[in-house]
Amino acid sequence: MTPLLDVQNLSVTFDTDDGVVQAVSDLSFHLDEGEILGIVGESGSGKSVSCLAMMGLVPSPPGRVQGRCARFEGEDLLTLSARAIRKVRGDRISMIFQDPMTSLNPYLRVSSQLTEAMRTHRQVSRKDALDRAVELLDLVHIPDASRRIHDYPHQFSGGMRQRVMIAMALMLEPKILIADEPTTALDVTIQAQILDLLGEIRQRLGTSMILITHDLGVVAGVCDRVGVMYAGRFCEMGPTDLLFSDPSHPYTRGLLRSVPRIDRPSHATLSTIQGNPPNMTDPPAGCAFHPRCEEQFDRCLVERPEWMGDSGEGQKRVACWLEESEAEGSE
Ligand SMILES: Nc1ncnc2c1ncn2[C@@H]1O[C@H](COP(=O)(O)OP(=O)(O)OP(=O)(O)O)[C@@H](O)[C@H]1O
Ligand SMILES: [Mg+2]
Repeated sequence: MTPLLDVQNLSVTFDTDDGVVQAVSDLSFHLDEGEILGIVGESGSGKSVSCLAMMGLVPSPPGRVQGRCARFEGEDLLTLSARAIRKVRGDRISMIFQDPMTSLNPYLRVSSQLTEAMRTHRQVSRKDALDRAVELLDLVHIPDASRRIHDYPHQFSGGMRQRVMIAMALMLEPKILIADEPTTALDVTIQAQILDLLGEIRQRLGTSMILITHDLGVVAGVCDRVGVMYAGRFCEMGPTDLLFSDPSHPYTRGLLRSVPRIDRPSHATLSTIQGNPPNMTDPPAGCAFHPRCEEQFDRCLVERPEWMGDSGEGQKRVACWLEESEAEGSE
């Protein structure tokens, strides 16, 4: 099956006063039709930038984007003109961000913000656009939608505003919804409700999604597959259940140990990963995680591990030399 989105060898750098930041390096991944892919990693690991690059949203200068391709519905997003990518962005791929207040205009009623994209991208009457907006507010469970649609953003709670953002992102029936930390600013109960909502939307509309988060707990319930990013690269990728039940990369294992889990006794200690994220103007040689890895050995210091494991459907892959030594050990 051809994936809906196929990104190959995407790299992004930024020219800064301190040198060249290697934000994303040689990143490849795909998204299947109707799938929810989680991208997890610490702050600065390149999660947002990789999606922004794909969408033509990395400012240049200082940013530079390179890559083999980012194929989506017969087009390569990386080679589209500014105008063509803008059209994809508003229409077939939409993005929502962490803080809805920065994306919603406080001076405009929710009704005009929801209908604006539809009126510019599609030739529809104001009445039709408004009907669609009310339908979507209903879908995202805003009570009394036909009345609330005329309110201003500040009249909604944080969780409600995030629902409005999701409704806005769905107005043009995008094929892909990219949600960048959509629940980070919310308290846990509301967070769980928004994640349930994303799952429900996928079920009802078939929308494929990329869910970006630093919180492994967030991806557990809703994502089909997860990619773990470290220093601008994926270090492990595979089906969510497999990644949780049998994490291979020491970084993934470290992340898992720092998440509270119901299947572990409540007195079990949560640990953090020692050390700090690398300086991306001068990333470590070999495996970028090696300075923080308790299991590193000589090879990790000099040679970067490539993907190991089966790339087939339902399989997990990992970029770690331990995997190779284990495979040799078991032969
Ligand atoms: N406009 C920019 N100029 C210079 N460096 C940038 C710019 N945008 C991003 N970066 C750098 O690119 C790297 C990746 O950033 P990115 O925003 O993708 O991280 P992230 O994984 O999304 O982190 P977070 O969880 O904090 O959102 C970081 O080192 C960041 O400082
Ligand atoms: Mg980010």
